Amino acid sequence: MVVFQVTRVQTTLFDGQKPGTSGLRKKVKVFIQPNYLHNFVQSTFNALGADKVRGATLVVSGDGRYFSKDAIQIITKMAAANGVRRIWVGQNGLLSTPAVSGVIRERVGHDGSKANGAFILTASHNPGGPHEDFGIKYNMENGGPAPESVTDKIYENTKTIKEYLIAEGLPDVDISTVAVTSFTGPEGQFDVDVFDSTSDYVKLMKSIFDFESIKSLLSSPNFSFCYDALHGVAGVYAKRIFVEELGAVESSLLNCIPKEDFGGGHPDPNLTYAKELVARMGLGKANNESEPPEFGAAADGDADRNMVLGKRFFVTPSDSVAIIAANAVEAIPYFSSGLKGVARSMPTSAALDVVAKHLNLKFFEVPTGWKFFGNLMDAGMCSVCGEESFGTGSDHIREKDGIWAVLAWLSILAYKNKDNLGAGKLVAVEDIVRHHWSVYGRHYYTRYDYENVDAGGAKELMAHLVKLQSSLSEVNKIIKGIRSDVSNVVHADEFEYKDPVDGSVSKHQGIRYLFEDGSRLVFRLSGTGSEGATIRVYIEQYVKDSSKTGRDSQEALAPLVKVAIKLSKLEEFTGRSAPTVIT
Ligand code: G6P
Ligand code: ZN
Repeated sequence: MVVFQVTRVQTTLFDGQKPGTSGLRKKVKVFIQPNYLHNFVQSTFNALGADKVRGATLVVSGDGRYFSKDAIQIITKMAAANGVRRIWVGQNGLLSTPAVSGVIRERVGHDGSKANGAFILTASHNPGGPHEDFGIKYNMENGGPAPESVTDKIYENTKTIKEYLIAEGLPDVDISTVAVTSFTGPEGQFDVDVFDSTSDYVKLMKSIFDFESIKSLLSSPNFSFCYDALHGVAGVYAKRIFVEELGAVESSLLNCIPKEDFGGGHPDPNLTYAKELVARMGLGKANNESEPPEFGAAADGDADRNMVLGKRFFVTPSDSVAIIAANAVEAIPYFSSGLKGVARSMPTSAALDVVAKHLNLKFFEVPTGWKFFGNLMDAGMCSVCGEESFGTGSDHIREKDGIWAVLAWLSILAYKNKDNLGAGKLVAVEDIVRHHWSVYGRHYYTRYDYENVDAGGAKELMAHLVKLQSSLSEVNKIIKGIRSDVSNVVHADEFEYKDPVDGSVSKHQGIRYLFEDGSRLVFRLSGTGSEGATIRVYIEQYVKDSSKTGRDSQEALAPLVKVAIKLSKLEEFTGRSAPTVIT
């Protein structure tokens, strides 16, 4: 057995190591500076405290983006030096974010051990490669992202750190082969357990969904399926679950080989970036000759996000969570005894609210960021939740879950079609959504993103909107001057959330303008960018009358879009005449 020693290395500070909505995300060129990653990792160990770190079992893996393999070796050596007992690594360093959450909660090691936490190496939907982004975040024992109390402590530590511990003599571990390798350090044995990336996750999914009924759907001659992993880690799970377990044909997988640079693409599952899938589903500009599949879906780099499409049809993420919630009890065995409650993030449309009201379910509106759902789930108050930002999930883990969302939709499709598999016309994705609108009404919804704008301008724009809120009559006067056909603003505020479980208060969570007819305009600065600022404008209009739910969404929302842009003086503050992305 290799014996290693612990070295104390003197280090100097780096500015700006403050974890954002989902960890620390920076350009690779920032992360590869000597000691940069080391400082952050040691600051995390120090924030957790020696009693939590010594003897601990930690998962270290991610979406496989550029620099991940080096980072895994560095973190392993630092963990060994800090007295960690075991490191668990998914084969080739690959684990999706939801799989990590599941592994922390469910996996039992060969020696009966359980994990205490995880370093997840991902910048989610941000591009990867030597000139793009890398990221790291810490997840806790419940499988969810570290709470602000911990990330604040980490940040404070990064501002004072003077040294870190590392086992320099520890050889690099082969992470491409499933095996347990043991070493000896000053505090005894240290193991690196490289395990299959998919088996624990597959087991979890099988405990939630009826795989047999999904298999019947996928093998039905009148159903067709397509999945785009955008070269992220989802490909590994898609191949195992959709092809090997559920019998989908291999050709239904697009971009399912993980790549360090996501093939040069932007691994964000939306109508702009998932180009190939969009074209295949008959939604692109190019006129597709062949008949599009019945169902299509995509994931982001670390496979926690999802986009669901029907044939020539886009399901908004806000509708998706509402539809899953409305059908969960009947279609998904895990929920057969009922939902504990449902939740959405503030900018997500109110489609879920209407379902909650109809079904008499507990309902919560939380700030943007999955971690806010975690507390509700730990307290047994929420079963299904979702965000407009293509995140959907449940209390089976403490992260959103891209593959879970696809299995949920396939379950609903299988349930609705249980009597017409084999031949004839299926109840399609579009039919399910239109039926939902006819029952609950429709929330027309769109989001305009202005990416990488000047941070100063973005701040001024937000300040301008906060100031405007002090006089609603003034706001309404301006609005009437822009479009006389939109209704009046009856309330405006900066969203603030008091966690019903721990009482903590989160302020400045986005600016809301609420209209008399139920429409909403929301403005927020993204918390996940790595350069400049991204302004997000969320535009929503509720229509209950089922004869009016079939309009084109951009057309229906055009008046409100105009109001949003003019009211915020977007062009003046940013110099942009158009958004970079519309979803
Ligand atoms: C990540 C988080 C989500 C959140 C999203 C918001 O994906 O996991 O919970 O909704 O970021 O991103 P933004 O860029 O809008 O802050
Ligand atoms: Zn992600």
